[in-house]
Amino acid sequence: MPPPYQDILDHILIDSERLQRRIAEIGNEISEDYRDAHSLVMIGILKGSTLFLADLMRQIRVPHMIDFLAISSYGSGARASSGVVRILMDLRAPIEGQHVLIVEDIIDSGYTLDYVLRLLSTQQPASLSICTLLDKADRREVEVPIKYVGFQIPNAFVFGYGLDIDEYYRNLPFIGVVKDGVNLTQEHE
Ligand code: PRP
Repeated sequence: MPPPYQDILDHILIDSERLQRRIAEIGNEISEDYRDAHSLVMIGILKGSTLFLADLMRQIRVPHMIDFLAISSYGSGARASSGVVRILMDLRAPIEGQHVLIVEDIIDSGYTLDYVLRLLSTQQPASLSICTLLDKADRREVEVPIKYVGFQIPNAFVFGYGLDIDEYYRNLPFIGVVKDGVNLTQEHE
């Protein structure tokens, strides 16, 4: 069993109120920007985006659909992106002619989103944009165009609100920074 989060939490980086306030702002922006779009589909990249997508869509006042892509960008046990990306689960429905908004929890090296953008752009969407809750810009290795950003964050090992440590702690309502020296086996150092 994983330890209780209090044992590994150094400090809370973004608390629940701040997260929800910013998500409401982004929801407003998206509602404005897509008010004349005939068909909006928000695509969550599993699994990290689940909480963000669920909260964001409740703040969006234009009709929209959701779909999901599961992508693997980290080899088992790797602590940083390998640049090797593959699809674990494809979209349920075609996106041709749809306005597509990709929803991510975090962009780090950029490899995942670069791959997803290239993949989806071959499917003739009416438009294709990215919304990410967190942007760790210092770590970028490949540039990706981001339309909506919740928060720029420093290069710290973060977890909670969808982001996991060994698949746990995704349920926490805040973004936390892991204590130095905690023995972790994967991602987001
Ligand atoms: C995370 C995150 C992004 C990706 C970002 O997913 O959700 O998809 O890494 O990293 P990059 O910019 O370096 O490619 P992860 O592979 O940890 O899977 P998960 O969402 O299922 O936790």
